[in-house]
Amino acid sequence: MRSHYCGSVNESHLDQEVTLCGWVNRRRDHGGVIFIDLRDREGLVQVVFDPDLPEVFATAERVRSEYVLKVKGRVRRRPAGTENPDLPTGAIEVLGRELTVLNSAETPPFQLDEDEVNEETRLRYRYVDLRRPAMQKRLQMRARVSRTLRRFLEDNGFLDIETPMLTKATPEGARDYIVPSRTHPGCFFALPQSPQLFKQLLMMGGMDRYYQIVRCFRDEDLRADRQPEFTQLDIETSFMDEEGIMGLMEEMMRELFAQVLEVPLHTPFQRMSYAEAMARYGSDKPDLRIPLELTELTDIMGEVDFKVFSGPAKDPAGRVAALRVPKGGELSRKDIDDYTHFVGRYGAKGLAYIKVNDLNAGREGLQSPILKFMPDTVVVEILDRTGAEDGDLIFFGADKARIVNEALGALRVKLGHDLGLVERGWRPLWVVDFPMFEHDEKEGRWVALHHPFTAPRVERPEELTGNPGEMISRAYDMVLNGTEVGGGSVRIHTTAMQQAVFNLLGIGEAEARDKFGFLLDALKYGCPPHGGIAFGLDRLVMLMTGSQSIRDVMAFPKTQTAHCPLTDAPAEVSDAQLRELNIRIKQQPA
Ligand code: AMO
Ligand code: AMP
Repeated sequence: MRSHYCGSVNESHLDQEVTLCGWVNRRRDHGGVIFIDLRDREGLVQVVFDPDLPEVFATAERVRSEYVLKVKGRVRRRPAGTENPDLPTGAIEVLGRELTVLNSAETPPFQLDEDEVNEETRLRYRYVDLRRPAMQKRLQMRARVSRTLRRFLEDNGFLDIETPMLTKATPEGARDYIVPSRTHPGCFFALPQSPQLFKQLLMMGGMDRYYQIVRCFRDEDLRADRQPEFTQLDIETSFMDEEGIMGLMEEMMRELFAQVLEVPLHTPFQRMSYAEAMARYGSDKPDLRIPLELTELTDIMGEVDFKVFSGPAKDPAGRVAALRVPKGGELSRKDIDDYTHFVGRYGAKGLAYIKVNDLNAGREGLQSPILKFMPDTVVVEILDRTGAEDGDLIFFGADKARIVNEALGALRVKLGHDLGLVERGWRPLWVVDFPMFEHDEKEGRWVALHHPFTAPRVERPEELTGNPGEMISRAYDMVLNGTEVGGGSVRIHTTAMQQAVFNLLGIGEAEARDKFGFLLDALKYGCPPHGGIAFGLDRLVMLMTGSQSIRDVMAFPKTQTAHCPLTDAPAEVSDAQLRELNIRIKQQPA
């Protein structure tokens, strides 16, 4: 049907006869000549219709935006002065000789070149939205990313193995999507939050190196980088420790960025402990492109005459920290109010500050609502530790450490963007030495920071003594420009250690048996040491395409409320279907 893609016709085809198929991007009537920009996956080309061929011309007059056409014609150079340097095909045009309308189209719900189209509308008419060159480019890059990753893993001996979608609850910490079973009345499958347990079982099954590009399902509150169904590049290996796994994954990333973006990533990647990341950036996924850092002040605030600071300083779970903003003295009263409001969203009760006008003028050179509470020694220490200079502004956070970290961590990123401090380029980072457990204040118990199959640093279960909050795991996260793109760990591979960790999590033997009995059994039948990682493929492609949301790199994403405007899912089902599934139908109130 077609000899070339519209977007790939160029000067090398001059005087050749081509057959093109595509959509009408735009039709222009130029006093006797009709121009049609014909568009396909690869781009646009200008087709010209002369009135010399009256029948063809009449057809060309009839076509409208988004009609589907087949055009036969000759490639010729555009007349001097009419070239379009912005278009790859801009030096040539096709003189149309035959024209077939393959299909007409109603007026599209939005113009393809319109920038500000409401997302709900874009998703509802996704098949039109996908025709936009930007969407085409992103999905093409996504395919290139998958291809490159697959090739690297295949070359390194990894086997692509599928795992079940209808399964049992997996413990990644989100809510499950569940599916009722018709054949087992009252019973439900869960869709996998990840293939975690299956990939471990594959190691126990001797597969040695596994990978899968796989859909995962998590019913959680959605954000720009979270979708209810998303894609992982999931990986597991046997007989490899964390150094081996991290090294191989760095190599994979380097290959990916070289192949797809033609940029070199410098290896080895920087590494940072979880504790250092929290202390310096208030986040376990710091964006290292932003040159702002938190300064610890907890140890000097215990005795100041300001409860807002001394309280958290004396609280073992509290923290007082500062964030120095170079040249922040230029921020207005209103800016500071806006930032105070911003940190409020993270639970901060305020945002104290000091404006550093003139360091040589002592207290006179400082401007602040909290200065009056601070003795000279403390003021000197603040200025010294933050490295303050004239013209700077220092923000303060004081509260539970969790709140201070979240609030100042987010403020750091926001200021970085607002003040144009974000450096260009790629800053990959491994975050390591994660705590095994974190305390869930609401539930009053310890929960696994990664998942409960992550191995602790210690070798034997007897060594798991003392404060659970201080136990370190063998987990690692890969962070890229402030986004967690991947996370994994070396796993527990003995029953005794697995049970010991379950015990610390308050999962008794009966519950462990009920939920993970198959895993505990499998551990007894010759389980190799193993470990792995999973990358959020959508997030990786989002970063690589410079998109603001993972929805822009998924063909058919859902909205923030986990709804699909295209198919209108989720939808109600018939009573008959429910009955068949043994799901009781609620009586409608009369
Ligand atoms: P984890 O839960 O950290 O680990 O997930 C791995 C990576 O998946 C991405 N991700 C998401 N992307 C989009 N939407 C979501 N809702 C979402 N949730 C997670 C992130 C994250 O780094 N089984 C373990 C991995 C392992 O231990 O090997 C796991 O799933 O980029
Ligand atoms: P107040 O005494 O409430 O007027 O607060 C004095 C200053 O401290 C104001 O600039 C508040 O924004 C700030 N502030 C109040 N609570 C906190 C807090 N928890 N962390 C940081 N600053 C705070």
